[in-house]
Amino acid sequence: MARFIINNSPPLKGSVKISGSKNAVLPILAASLLAEGECVIRDVPCQSDVETMRMLLERLGADLYWDKEAGIIQTLASGRLRTEAEYELVSKMRASFLVMGPLLARLGEVNVPLPGGCAIGARPVDLHLKGFSALGAQVMQEHGNVRAKAKRLKGAKIYLDFPSVGATENIMMAAVLADGVTVLENCAVEPEVVDLANFLNSAGAEIRGAGTDTIKITGVKSLSEADHQVIPDRIEAGTFMVAAGVTKGDITVTNVVADHLKPLIAKLKEVNLDVTETEAGVRVKYQEEKGGHIIAADVKTLPYPGFPTDMQAQFMSLLILAEGTSIVTETVFENRFMHVGEFKRMGADIKIESRSAVIEGVKNLTGAQVKATDLRAGAALALAALTASGTTELSDIYHIDRGYCNLAEKLSQLGARIRREEDFSEKK
Ligand code: EPZ
Repeated sequence: MARFIINNSPPLKGSVKISGSKNAVLPILAASLLAEGECVIRDVPCQSDVETMRMLLERLGADLYWDKEAGIIQTLASGRLRTEAEYELVSKMRASFLVMGPLLARLGEVNVPLPGGCAIGARPVDLHLKGFSALGAQVMQEHGNVRAKAKRLKGAKIYLDFPSVGATENIMMAAVLADGVTVLENCAVEPEVVDLANFLNSAGAEIRGAGTDTIKITGVKSLSEADHQVIPDRIEAGTFMVAAGVTKGDITVTNVVADHLKPLIAKLKEVNLDVTETEAGVRVKYQEEKGGHIIAADVKTLPYPGFPTDMQAQFMSLLILAEGTSIVTETVFENRFMHVGEFKRMGADIKIESRSAVIEGVKNLTGAQVKATDLRAGAALALAALTASGTTELSDIYHIDRGYCNLAEKLSQLGARIRREEDFSEKK
C-alpha cells in the first residue's frame, strides 16, 4: 500500500495548472455509451476513477483508447453492448451507477449492482430509480442488483425531492433517447451537470436549461459523435487555493473557470486571504502585511452554488489553524467528518455536535501517522501535514489517487516537502 511522507514545508509559492474535472469526465464517459459514433474527450485527468470507468465501459462492449500523455480518451460504442455491469467495478466506484441511464436508453434493458455506501454516507439511489420509473421503465431490485426494462422510454415531468447531482445526470441521460419531452425539476445545477449536457448536445441531444433548476430534454432518435473538452476541476483548484492559506504562501491556479470557484473565493476572503483573478487564473496570497493570520469563519455545505461539500475537509485544514472559533456544518452527506479524528491526532481542537464540527483554532499542528478516510479527507490531511511540525505519514492514499492527478508532484513543484512511498508494510 502506498503512503505519503510529508515534512514541515516552507510557504508554497508559484502556479499550478488544474486538470480536467473528475466529476465531469465520469458522467461524460458513461454518456459516450449513448453515441453511435466516435467520441473524443479531452483534458481527461490521470486518476484511478477514470481507469475504473474505462474498464467498466470496455467490459460493457465499448472500445476505448486512452492517450494519457495527451489527456485524451476516444470511445466507440457502436457494437453490441452488454446489459450487465459487473459488481466488482460498480462496488469500487459509485459513479459506475451512471451507466444505468445510457444503457437503459440505448438497449431498453439494464442490470446494475446497487452501489454500496461509502465512508461519507449511505448514498442511496432512490431518486435515480424514481426517475427511470417515471420514464416508463419497469424497475426491480433483487439480490443486490437493480434491473430496469422498457420497450421505449417516454418523456415525463419529474420533480427531484433533492437536487441530486447523480440522479439529475442519470435521468437526463436516460431521457435523451426517450419519446417526447422530459422536464426535470428541482434538479442539480452543478457545473459538471452543465458540462454533461453540453457534451450530449454536441452529439445531437436536445437539452435546454442545464445549470438552472429545470432542465427540458426533447428525445431524439440517436446520438452521433462528439469532440468535447472537459471543464477544469473546481475541487482540485480549491484544494490548491486552500494550500496557499494553510502554508502562508502565494499560489496561482491556472486553467480554471473563476465563476465555478465563487463560493470558495468568498469564503477564502472571509478568512483574510487575498484572492485576485488574474489573466492566468486565480491567485491566493496569505496577507503577512495585514496582521498575517487566518480568521475563524463558519461554513455550511450546500448544493451548488453553495459552499461545496467536496471542499469541506480541505477548508477545515485552514480553520483548525485560524484565530477564534469556527463552526462547519455538513448538510449534504450524513457522515462526512471522518477526517476530524485524524486532524485531532495532529493536535487540532474539534468537537462534533450532530451535523456540525466546532473548531477552536490552535497555533500549530504536529506531524503524526494518519489515514486518508476518503478522497477529500486525504487531500485535506496532506495540506495540514505541510504546516505541521515534524513528519507526517499519510497512508491509504489510494483514496487520493481516485480524484487527484499527481498531487504530490504538483505540491512539490510549489515547494512542498512531500514524497510518495510505494509499498510499505504497516510497522508491526
Ligand atoms: C456527486 O456525487 C459527486 N460525485 C460527489 O463528489 C459530490 O460530493 C456530490 O455529487 C455532491 O456534490 C460525482 O459526481 C462522481 P448526490 P452524487 O446524488 O451524485 C442523497 C468527490 O469527492 N441522495 O448529489 O452521489 C445522497 O445520499 C465526490 O468527488 C439520495 O438520498 O451526490 C447525499 O446525501 C464525493 N438519493 C445527497 O443526496 C439519491 O437517489 C447528495 O448526493 C441520490 C442522492
